[in-house]
Formats: sequence, C-alpha cells, structure tokens
Amino acid sequence: MSAGAFDMLLIRKFRPSDLQKVYEIEAQSFKDPYHPIFLINLYELYGDTFLVAEEDSQVVGYVIARKVDAKGHIIAIAVDPRHRCRGIGKALMLAVEEELRKKGVVELWLEVRVSNTRAVKFYKRLGYVEKGILKGYYSDGEDAMLLKKYMLW
Ligand SMILES: CC(C)(COP(=O)(O)OP(=O)(O)OC[C@H]1O[C@@H](n2cnc3c(N)ncnc32)[C@H](O)[C@@H]1OP(=O)(O)O)[C@@H](O)C(=O)NCCC(=O)NCCS
Repeated sequence: MSAGAFDMLLIRKFRPSDLQKVYEIEAQSFKDPYHPIFLINLYELYGDTFLVAEEDSQVVGYVIARKVDAKGHIIAIAVDPRHRCRGIGKALMLAVEEELRKKGVVELWLEVRVSNTRAVKFYKRLGYVEKGILKGYYSDGEDAMLLKKYMLW
C-alpha cells in the first residue's frame, strides 16, 4: 500500500501478529479501550479496512473502519502518543478512505467524544463536518459528536 509523505512509513493491512502493539496503543489512547478479543473480531469482520502504520518495522498507529450498505463508518483510529502530530493519523485516514472508496463508499460517518477536542480538530482538518450530538452515547454517559464527510472525487 501507500508510503504517503514518509520514506519509511508503510500503511498496510492489520495482521494478527500486530495485536499486542495495536492493543498497547489502544490502551494508551482511550480510557475505555477495546478488549484484544474485540479487536480480533473486528479484524475477522472488516479485515480489508483494518489498517496499521508501520515505521522502521514498528506499528505506530492503526485505523479500523467498516462498510454498512453504501456508507463507511470509522470505528477507531489511534497513533502511538510518541508519534503524534507527524501526519501518521492523516495518512491512515486517507488510506482507509481510499479502501472504502474502492468498495463504492462516498459517504463516511464517525462518532467522537465531545471532550476530545484534539480529535475533533483532526477530523475537521480532514473534511468532516459536524452533523449533530448523540446524547449519552458512551457507556459513561458522555455525549458523542456525529461527524460526516462526502468523498465526491
Ligand atoms: C487523533 C489522532 C489519531 C491524530 O493523529 P496524529 O497522527 O497526531 O495526527 P496528524 O499528525 O496526522 O494530524 C493531521 C491533522 O490534524 C491536526 N491535528 C492533529 N492533532 C491535533 C491537535 N492536537 N490539535 C489540533 N490539530 C491537530 C493537524 O494539525 C493536522 O493538520 P494538517 O494536515 O493541516 O497539518 C491522535 O491524536 C490520537 O491517536 N489520539 C488518541 C486517540 C483518539 O482520540 N482517536 C480519535 C477518536 S476515535
């Protein structure tokens, strides 16, 4: 797959041998991380759109998406905290959007915690637009912001 703007950054499909590192990044990034078994379930269901970023043979980030009818849903994205703000998240998003586009997707949606201002800015920079608030969406009662993007060309 693509090397993006990095000489050494490889975006490729997740492999089960990546699980430990992906879970490590997940646990460092979210207060309610997905269980490793759930991550494997997502791989089994949506393996084409579960991508990792690899730099110097190390997994430094991942993105998980799925296609529902004609729409694409970004389930999760995280970058190793030591490697953030270097364009890796953006490279992952562009790569998974391309995989979804190949499957006929033109409309994307995702949910993000309203308190996660860093991620909201990240998604808006990528062209996502706020479409509403999902009250009490998360198990701790926090609201989610619903964001959408159309990929027209
Ligand atoms: C959100 C996240 C994936 C972004 O990854 P990243 O690799 O740091 O982001 P990038 O370096 O690719 O940034 C891409 C764009 O988003 C913007 N951005 C990224 N982090 C930002 C921040 N902290 N504040 C403002 N803007 C930010 C950048 O300015 C950049 O814009 P540019 O292309 O014009 O330069 C990363 O911060 C992360 O893993 N967060 C924890 C997990 C999380 O919150 N996931 C999202 C909710 S599911």
